[in-house]
Amino acid sequence: MSKVTVIGAGNVGATVANVLAHKDIVKEIVLVDIVGDLAKGKALDTWQQAPIDNYSTYLTGTSDYKETANSDIVVITAGIPRKPGMSRDDLISTNANIVTSVVKSVLEYSSDPIIIVVSNPLDVMTYAAFKASGLAKNRVFGMAGILDTARYRAFLASELNVSPKDIQAILMGGHGDTMVPLPRYTTVAGIPVTELVDNDTLNAIVERTKTGGGELVKLMGTSAWYAPGAAAAQMVEAIIKNENRIFPVCTQLNGEYGLSDVFVGVPVRLGKNGIENIIELKLDSAETTLLKDSAAAVKEVMDVFDKM
Ligand code: APR
Repeated sequence: MSKVTVIGAGNVGATVANVLAHKDIVKEIVLVDIVGDLAKGKALDTWQQAPIDNYSTYLTGTSDYKETANSDIVVITAGIPRKPGMSRDDLISTNANIVTSVVKSVLEYSSDPIIIVVSNPLDVMTYAAFKASGLAKNRVFGMAGILDTARYRAFLASELNVSPKDIQAILMGGHGDTMVPLPRYTTVAGIPVTELVDNDTLNAIVERTKTGGGELVKLMGTSAWYAPGAAAAQMVEAIIKNENRIFPVCTQLNGEYGLSDVFVGVPVRLGKNGIENIIELKLDSAETTLLKDSAAAVKEVMDVFDKM
């Protein structure tokens, strides 16, 4: 049985812990926040939900990294969320410092954890965590693609009046307005989506997906947490259960898709070692151009981070 640490006990971190506890697949979850009482309170609240919802996962909260010792998986959600008018990139300096210091503190007590980054701007924060950690690249990666794909699938499900369960899709690129949805690789119970939805409708859904995070920031005054938290918990589940699930995940590319030294979302197989392998789809030239443009946009922000 495993130990999972979630750093940041705010909206997203508390949701990761809560959703993961409900899966009843890990022995212990430690919630860490600089505001220790907040982490303690949210952990205690979720532990008190256990008798109602029938799970045994034990939760504690703390601001002391000693209590995270020997974690198998660490999910990083610490940082400030996006406010209306901010792009994800505006968060870079504040959240990069937070992510870097969090990774260093984590590694004082856990020697070889798998780290899942959720803090934004996601692709660059994943890079920051990888750089600070010195861990193998298959052990440090970011959650964005499952969320973006879920938004796309949810919009399609509403449009077609079908269950979101039956919509399969993959999405690539950076976590932002340059993300690359792939209608060619989208099916509804095996039926190509292009047979069920006209081009204009599909394009409108793709555009809504790209700005899906911003839509929620506008509605709520802060960024989303239910779907992001559930998406990170699903990645933890795939690793703990060695499921070999195929998800779009933010990882470092070293030649795949003709791209190098950049962190972007691509389909991977997720199992007990984290990223077991990257899956290289055959993209057409338009898709390749979109992916290259998206990677270039991420690289620009990575360069900003490198110069900081
Ligand atoms: N160490 C631990 N926790 C920290 C640190 C730190 N150095 N700095 C900030 N935190 C905590 C805050 O105290 C807060 O409780 O991180 C938490 C962030 O929670 P919220 O403000 O509710 O933000 P949330 O909506 O959870 O988003 C967190 O995830 O999706 C991304 O864009 C989002 O980068 C943001 C992150």
